[in-house]
Amino acid sequence: MSNTKNVMDDIVWVGADDHRLELFENIYPLPDGVSYNSYVILDEQTALMDTADIAVADTFLANVETALNGRRLDYVIVQHMEPDHSATLGALIDKYPGVVVVCNAKTEVMIHQFFRNDLVLKTKIVKEGDVLSLGHHVLQFIMTPMVHWPEVMMTYDTTAHILFSADAFGAFGALNGAMFADEVDFKDTYLSEMRRYYANIVGKYGMPVQAALKKAAGLDIHLICPLHGLVWREELPFLLDKYEHWSTYTPEEKAVVVAYASMYGNTGRVATKVAEKLSKMDVPVCVYDLSHTGRDFVLGEIFRASHLVLAAATHDGNIFEPMEYLLRDMIAHGVQGRKVALIENGSWAPMAAKQMQTLLESMKDMQIVIPIVSIKSTLSENQEEDLTKLASELMA
Ligand SMILES: Cc1cc2nc3c(=O)[nH]c(=O)nc-3n(C[C@H](O)[C@H](O)[C@H](O)COP(=O)(O)O)c2cc1C
Ligand SMILES: [Fe+2]
Ligand SMILES: [Fe+2]
Repeated sequence: MSNTKNVMDDIVWVGADDHRLELFENIYPLPDGVSYNSYVILDEQTALMDTADIAVADTFLANVETALNGRRLDYVIVQHMEPDHSATLGALIDKYPGVVVVCNAKTEVMIHQFFRNDLVLKTKIVKEGDVLSLGHHVLQFIMTPMVHWPEVMMTYDTTAHILFSADAFGAFGALNGAMFADEVDFKDTYLSEMRRYYANIVGKYGMPVQAALKKAAGLDIHLICPLHGLVWREELPFLLDKYEHWSTYTPEEKAVVVAYASMYGNTGRVATKVAEKLSKMDVPVCVYDLSHTGRDFVLGEIFRASHLVLAAATHDGNIFEPMEYLLRDMIAHGVQGRKVALIENGSWAPMAAKQMQTLLESMKDMQIVIPIVSIKSTLSENQEEDLTKLASELMA
């Protein structure tokens, strides 16, 4: 059954929600599902903005058919070759033979890599600034390499003032019948999933995102249509401001993320004690047990918050793994410019803090708070004071 929605009179959303996929990119949990967005422009000539994941192929193809309502498909614009948007390209071309694939030269190479000789392609290769007139709508192509693949381009509809933004401004979370961010309680319900998407999928590419934002700043944008999540027609400055913060690794707010890795709970109890002290200082604090909360989720929180408390037990001479993995994720995603307090635990030879410090020092502009608190199994009486000092130095 098809399910299309109008973005405007002549622009139709033909994407699909996916609630069944457990892990996005086979790694990031999807508690609220995900949407693959795709859009048909109905003009003198018709164009499809990207295809969709193989998991939703039937719905997607039915939606395209419904939107076209018997018309021919003239163009499919491929902004990005990651399979979540391109795996159904072959099926689309089979169904609409003669459709012209509009893409850049790098994308064309990738299409052949993914489909080998299975596709008979008619391509129109575009480069930065090229335009394609559909009649009324005139599309302009903007190269945004490494947001988050090398061949990514965005498409600006100069007539309707729409930025088709590829994966930028995308989010986890299915649409569930909504289309526009202003139709939902975005800040309370969707923002954290957009942040988690950004941190994990795009987070590493702050500089390329900055370059894309600079290009976007020169356009008169009224609507942003990403490949995942809601469409933006209001509060664009809010959205752009989030991207400005995330892509420069600037915290959104003064807040503390306390994350701990603890086998038997002793390190966790000390971390929670610090959280209590910080709360009494009127600082917003969130506490995460890294054995329970996914690192991808905590990474999103680290993009939001200004301060961190990292507490880890020593495990076979190393940082207890859930914390080591978080630190490696932070390195991999370019986290920088945070103030961090460290707590370690060990019953005979605590080693975690030194190793956490080494990993933190490989990140840019991380400020490590003195004192580092070293626990032997549980907090001793005279260490209560050290913990108070750690909290106040962190926020100093
Ligand atoms: C499998 C295992 C390996 C450990 N390896 C070390 C170690 O190499 N050095 C050390 O000082 N303590 C080591 N410990 C002890 C813990 O770090 C220590 O008991 C700590 O208090 C545990 O805190 P937790 O209750 O937060 O798990 C190990 C504990 C376990 C269970
Ligand atoms: Fe992608
Ligand atoms: Fe995507």
